[in-house]
Amino acid sequence: TTSPIWGGRFARGPSAIMEDINVSIDFDCRLIRQDVRASKAHAAMLATCGIISQADSAAIVAGLDLILAESETGQFVPTRALEDIHMNVESRLAVLSGEAAGRLHTARSRNDQVATDFRLWVRDTIDDLDRALIRLQAVLIDRAEQHADWIMPGFTHLQAAQPVTLGHHLLAYVEMLGRDRGRFTDARRRLNECPLGAAALAGTSFPIDRRQTAAALGFDRPAANSLDAVSDRDFAIEFLAAAAILTTHLSRLGEEIVIWSCEQFGFLRLSDDFSTGSSIMPQKRNPDAAELVRAKSGRIIGALTGLLIVIKGLPLAYAKDMQEDKEPVFQTADTLMLCLAAMTGMMETAAFDRARMRAAAERGFPSATDLADWLVRVKGMPFRRAHHAAGSLVRLAEGVPCRLEELTLVQMQSVEPSIDASVFDVLGVERSVESRTSEGGTAPANVRAAAAAARTRFLSL
Ligand code: ARG
Repeated sequence: TTSPIWGGRFARGPSAIMEDINVSIDFDCRLIRQDVRASKAHAAMLATCGIISQADSAAIVAGLDLILAESETGQFVPTRALEDIHMNVESRLAVLSGEAAGRLHTARSRNDQVATDFRLWVRDTIDDLDRALIRLQAVLIDRAEQHADWIMPGFTHLQAAQPVTLGHHLLAYVEMLGRDRGRFTDARRRLNECPLGAAALAGTSFPIDRRQTAAALGFDRPAANSLDAVSDRDFAIEFLAAAAILTTHLSRLGEEIVIWSCEQFGFLRLSDDFSTGSSIMPQKRNPDAAELVRAKSGRIIGALTGLLIVIKGLPLAYAKDMQEDKEPVFQTADTLMLCLAAMTGMMETAAFDRARMRAAAERGFPSATDLADWLVRVKGMPFRRAHHAAGSLVRLAEGVPCRLEELTLVQMQSVEPSIDASVFDVLGVERSVESRTSEGGTAPANVRAAAAAARTRFLSL
């Protein structure tokens, strides 16, 4: 049998292989809410413009509502023979609404239909992601406030650099997530133009009102160019690009959790809820969730690359290649929602170890910069000379071995005679973090203020 939708042209139906390669219903069934929503808006517009009767529009809208209800109760079962969600909905509508159903596709093509549905889906998903990102930011801000003066080593090259506070470190991620939200919001603003009415590619001869459908669907305006409207997938690519950057942030945090939770660091212990054991080693508490958050960035970055490659060689306007736009976006959205939930749960329930972090912060001469700065500030020494003197003192302490602040004044003066006892005021990790009061610095007072500011900047809607 030929297709009920486009069968007129053909003497017989496609081969099973043709159906297999062509079918998208297995994944685009996820567009049903958006498809129904867009079709209702289109039908209402056709009636307002006198293209179909009010009675037909009402029958179509009632039928579409019924299909959505059926789909929510599992009664609407799409078939692969009908290729995609659009044809499945339309043929079910023919059963429910009779003759009127055949009028719905007036002045419309699946090309502008799918572009509209998919934009609506991405828009809805950006809103869901924003809420999930807010939840993670809120947890990180809470934890930062609780640990505003917990001292830990700050690293460069993963070598002890200068002491920082855990609160400050956590707030760094709040900033990253804030920019991620900004990127999604930017993408949302640009995607919010309605393709409906572009029809197949050239527009339509029917006297439609594109402004009405655009407004009904919450778009800012109709897309300006019909060719662009049906062939543009920037919105999906931008979504994936923002997702790829977000996933690198989550991956870095995942990596830090892995490092921090190992026995050698021991900065944090994941809760039982977010730890796994080993089948052979009874002592293990593995950070599988953090590792998987780190690893899943591979799929998301792959999704972005994949879609860019699908689109890059396509001549205008629509080509079936574009059907490959959906799975990477759906999978990315699912993966991100899961990773955000896992990260939120891990960060909410992890226990940090104040003593371990502090002890680690004291290793590796983290006050060396403070010592050099003191020579500059108090002794008027040029920074380069001060750097050299502090470096020699580190070498001395390393030989003893002891911490910098454990050197005697006499030992210090053997390297740099101008040093006096007041130098001890700036040595030690507490002094070090407390002195970092420059804007955006790690001093506990700054961190408390930064957490409060982050609450206002990111959480007050
Ligand atoms: N399932 C198709 C897609 O996702 C819908 C558009 C089909 N349009 C066409 N001209 N064959 O892209």
